[in-house]
Amino acid sequence: MAGTHGGRLNQAARAWGIPLEQWLDLSTGINPRPWPVPAVPAQVWQRLPEDDDGLPALAMRWAGAPESAGCVPVAGTQAAIQALPRLRKPGRIGVPDPAYTEHAEGWRAAGHEVIPFSDLPSDKALGELDALVWINPNNPTGETVTASRLLACHERLSEQGGWLVVDEAFIDADPEQTLVPATGRPGLVVYRSLGKFFGLAGLRAGLVFGPSGLCGQLGETLGPWSVSHPARYLMQRALADTGWQQATAERLRADSHRLGAMLREAGLAPQGGTPLFLYCPHPQPRRVADALAEQAVLVRVFESPPALRFGLPGPESEWQHLERALGAMRAALAIPGQRRR
Ligand SMILES: Cc1ncc(COP(=O)(O)O)c(C=O)c1O
Repeated sequence: MAGTHGGRLNQAARAWGIPLEQWLDLSTGINPRPWPVPAVPAQVWQRLPEDDDGLPALAMRWAGAPESAGCVPVAGTQAAIQALPRLRKPGRIGVPDPAYTEHAEGWRAAGHEVIPFSDLPSDKALGELDALVWINPNNPTGETVTASRLLACHERLSEQGGWLVVDEAFIDADPEQTLVPATGRPGLVVYRSLGKFFGLAGLRAGLVFGPSGLCGQLGETLGPWSVSHPARYLMQRALADTGWQQATAERLRADSHRLGAMLREAGLAPQGGTPLFLYCPHPQPRRVADALAEQAVLVRVFESPPALRFGLPGPESEWQHLERALGAMRAALAIPGQRRR
């Protein structure tokens, strides 16, 4: 559903008649200072990728998966979001709402009935589901639930042969509540992405952790060479670069703190988020987004519930661009701001 995602900068540039290079794109939750991609050796471009290149084992160590679990590298979480629902006969699937909508789309496309939940379902509601998807932390609200609450859901679901699928695309900067260490048990699946924290959305790189039998089935469904050799090569190097990961987690936390202060000052108090984006409920998000677009700042608008989502600026010039745009927006809409705390 291309129309419902952030990052549609070409479209914004056309709609607002502002050249592409003048825009500040804050419409995604992608790290604006990505892992520095090294040169890829010629033979990696030339040769087909091989499954026994050590990537799954490295990814399991990186994410803390037990030896009993399986791991499948995928061409972005999206590949698994579309393929996994086809590995279960049609049933009743709980999904979070509001949330990233691709999960609901993926299960519906495979013939399942999708039931939205604004909070984790009760024991009774879980008893009526075949699978539950949860996004932790959630996109766009940033809401987080504890690993122990999710494990309790998994236990209830697995009594009836059900699955719990946890999308941890935004967990990397703060991975305390990850369920990867609990994978291996039947019916527990966790998705990780290298698109957000690592800032490599264009590479199409993700990981699925789960029971080894189900991971094998998923790998067969996706077919041979579904992740390119350059992607597998770069994933291994990015996952091994723990120094960059530590420094990046700290920097993202500081940057999201700075963004929060800037938004509060502009009268857009964030009510949730992650180190990669902030979520600001607002009664007229379209008006705010249009006033920012006039200043060549693209943000993500949500209609129901009404809210805006801001990703992080990168270099200092982008922070200054945002500060100027927020000032102009505030003047145009006469929004009373708050003092910096
Ligand atoms: C919660 C969530 N999960 C998964 C994805 C897909 O990520 P990718 O396919 O790039 O790994 C996104 C992308 O926006 C997302 O927001």
